[in-house]
Amino acid sequence: MSVLAQWIREAAPPKSSFKVDDIPDLSGKVIIVTGASAGIGKETTKALLAHGAKVYIAARNQSQSEETIRQLKETTGSEAVFLKLDLANLKAIKAAAEEFLSKETQLHVLFNNAGVMVPPVELVTTDGYDLQFGTNVLGHFYFTKLLLPTMIETAKTSSDGKARVVTTSSSGHLFGNLDFETFKDGPKRRKPTNSLYCQSKFGNVVFATELARRYGDQGIVSTSLNPGNIKSDLQRHVPAIARSFINTFVLWDTPKGALTQLYAGTAPAAAELNGKYLVPWARVSSPRKETQDPELGKKLWNWLEEEVKDI
Ligand SMILES: NC(=O)c1ccc[n+]([C@@H]2O[C@H](COP(=O)([O-])OP(=O)(O)OC[C@H]3O[C@@H](n4cnc5c(N)ncnc54)[C@H](OP(=O)(O)O)[C@@H]3O)[C@@H](O)[C@H]2O)c1
Ligand SMILES: *[C@@H]1O[C@H](CO)[C@@H](O)[C@H](O)[C@H]1NC(C)=O
Repeated sequence: MSVLAQWIREAAPPKSSFKVDDIPDLSGKVIIVTGASAGIGKETTKALLAHGAKVYIAARNQSQSEETIRQLKETTGSEAVFLKLDLANLKAIKAAAEEFLSKETQLHVLFNNAGVMVPPVELVTTDGYDLQFGTNVLGHFYFTKLLLPTMIETAKTSSDGKARVVTTSSSGHLFGNLDFETFKDGPKRRKPTNSLYCQSKFGNVVFATELARRYGDQGIVSTSLNPGNIKSDLQRHVPAIARSFINTFVLWDTPKGALTQLYAGTAPAAAELNGKYLVPWARVSSPRKETQDPELGKKLWNWLEEEVKDI
């Protein structure tokens, strides 16, 4: 199938056979959702709270997160916990992981959901990486790496012997590749910002697949997914006219966007999906085949390790 045909197929999925009500009881489970102050992450958190999990909202904006926590308490009766996390700052990521580990000894599921899309190309992270690659890929890599020892321990005592890392990619990955010379700021990076978004989402799949290869035998279940084309604030950098058109005709309501990752993170059957890529709604599919190249996975992983070794 051509890349375009696959994109169209992912954009127009059949009715979901998985529903929020199918989520099992999550009492006793500790879960982090990055970027859960808004959008798909907020909807994901709502469903997790409603099924009894203890959920950390890992996000930058404290006042917005507190408002989200208040709203979700009203609808679910349960209170999420705020964890300050700025994925565009490596030292802040370390501080966030330390803060979490000072409070909890277990982590059952990590949703790497936060993301930034098509910001002005000038923008870079605190450490000088391309904002989209730095936030979406490097930031989540480092956060995951710091939490992984705890997740491996958690897997040993959890009911299914697993702990899950669910990484939110996009059908945009179908149009991406990895150009290592654009990860840090420099002349090569000044490309259309859209291609840098697709690169970061391609990188999400390469990362999730390599994580699966490296840690699958230690009880880690790593998946990546396209949540669907969903109404949210993700398009804040898209021009207003295009945005209103897209919102009216192309996008599904926000709660639908949580379904596929909720399936990957909670469904008993999804404990067997290590290394898989999912599409709307809650279906296993195939990502671009280039993302599955073990050499590329190794190269990206080694590059990421090198960047965080002195933080
Ligand atoms: N909506 C779609 O159609 C669609 C399609 C495909 C894939 N996705 C993916 O789905 C995920 C969620 O997107 P969404 O649609 O829910 O977008 P959204 O409403 O914009 O939510 C993104 C979240 O990420 C957070 N975030 C951004 N930069 C961050 C940083 N440096 N540190 C910590 N948090 C940060 C944002 O919080 P603050 O900015 O307040 O910090 C926000 O809570 C993203 O990974 C996106 O790429 C979405
Ligand atoms: C944080 O969220 C609040 C409430 O949504 C908003 O008014 C404020 O501008 C946000 N702050 C930043 C730094 O984005």
